[in-house]
Amino acid sequence: MVDYTSAKQDKIDLKGPRLPFIAQTPLIVARPLEFLDNCAKKYGDSFILPLGVFKNRQIAFFSKPETLQQIFTASPERFEWGKMTYVFRPLTGSQSLIMLEGKKHEAVRRLLMNRLHGKQMYNYGQTIIDLTLAEIARFQVGSTVAIRDCMADISLDIILRVVFGINPGQRYSQLKTLIKPFLERVNSPLNSVQFFFSFLQQDWGKWSPWGKFLRDRQQIDRLIYAEIAERRQQKDLGDDILSLLLSIEADLGQPLNDEQLRDQLMTLLLLGHETTASALSWVFYWVHQDPAVLTRLKAELANTDLDPIAIAKLPYLNAVCQETLRINPIALISQPRLVKDAIELDGNIFSKGSILIPCIYLAHRRRETYPNPESFDPDRFIERKFSPYEYLPFGGGDRSCIGKGISNYQMKLVLATVLSQYRLELSPKHPVKPVRRGVTIVPSGDCKMIVKERLAKSDRQLKTKQLERVSLMG
Ligand code: HEM
Repeated sequence: MVDYTSAKQDKIDLKGPRLPFIAQTPLIVARPLEFLDNCAKKYGDSFILPLGVFKNRQIAFFSKPETLQQIFTASPERFEWGKMTYVFRPLTGSQSLIMLEGKKHEAVRRLLMNRLHGKQMYNYGQTIIDLTLAEIARFQVGSTVAIRDCMADISLDIILRVVFGINPGQRYSQLKTLIKPFLERVNSPLNSVQFFFSFLQQDWGKWSPWGKFLRDRQQIDRLIYAEIAERRQQKDLGDDILSLLLSIEADLGQPLNDEQLRDQLMTLLLLGHETTASALSWVFYWVHQDPAVLTRLKAELANTDLDPIAIAKLPYLNAVCQETLRINPIALISQPRLVKDAIELDGNIFSKGSILIPCIYLAHRRRETYPNPESFDPDRFIERKFSPYEYLPFGGGDRSCIGKGISNYQMKLVLATVLSQYRLELSPKHPVKPVRRGVTIVPSGDCKMIVKERLAKSDRQLKTKQLERVSLMG
């Protein structure tokens, strides 16, 4: 096998738009799906853009499963990561998992993954159902609800309870009240620009955008550090993620200090909250835009009480959630890889400084893999198993999403719980299309739905019992 690691020059036989990345940025930011669809139509599975005007470096997009496999299985040492995730640093801090590289990244990742997977995760099921019931108890028949907003509330509650382990009370309410508008601002088109350009990061007082961001962050940090300090004093820790992180001697030679804990909590909040809320909004949209899908799903759910383990195993529900993340992957791309040691992909050599982008959206729209890719067809996932290079809503390789298990679980439980209580319909006044929100793609207009009916079933009894439990927990 030829070793290309020291190659100084690119040798690339791929085509792409002539204008450099910087000149295409407005289009990529404003209409990313159109940009990707057009490029795939013109240039195929892989295409390149010049990175800058003068430097002879490329930014390359890939979506063919064989090429994605090559990228995802390449040693992480060949890429530089921190330079690609710098935009998140003011939010997550420098100790965050996404800022780390090499052995340190591996160790913190293992630590967090252990807490977010398997048996551990199943313990959170009942809490997820209870929090959903508490949130939707306010639905009124005949009213219009903004599903994305409602899902964002549920997801935030779940993170505060399951990840931070904070019990309802003053600190919980304060954090919730601060975090919601904080994340809204961070994701707004105007404010998100400041994370990309350090010269915009100037504290000109509390009315300036960066000044406001710093002050809000400081208030949230104060509450998080107070929670960490209080929990360090407790003998009996719970089974939430923070407790588990506090109770172990980390694989790093010493326990995590307060700053490391804070940074991991902020990372899980930032990467886990919006993504899961958006995925849930899409699943509500797709289930309700095709009556046949809804009828089949309801028939499957009718045989199951709100038992989290049983719900998680339902095959059609699983297929519906998978197809939702195929047709509307929340993140369009896996993390860009900045090449450190030249790499050969499909006969092309990318030397140091090139940027490789595995494109989730285009991989999910390949006709060869998914016939009729624009149609929503959960049966694809009943009839076939797709490889991790064909189906990759959570990215791939050493940096793939660590929240995959819990967010899949949450999608199923929240959808099943809401469908057991209400009949909803998409609002004809608010047609839905995909729009960008921060780095994710969400349904436009917050996915408005009309509450048509409160379902009268023995579920009412169940609901009352569960609401009692929520108030006991609180
Ligand atoms: C449907 C919901 C979600 C989607 C679609 C999603 C998607 C992704 C994607 C595409 C990546 C980048 C992977 C790559 O570069 O190949 C990622 C990374 C990550 N996600 Fe998620 N995510 C979701 C939910 C969550 C949740 C609930 C959490 C945590 C509670 C989480 C935590 C993370 C973290 C920490 C990383 C960075 C991993 C690393 O750098 O090693 N995500 N996610």
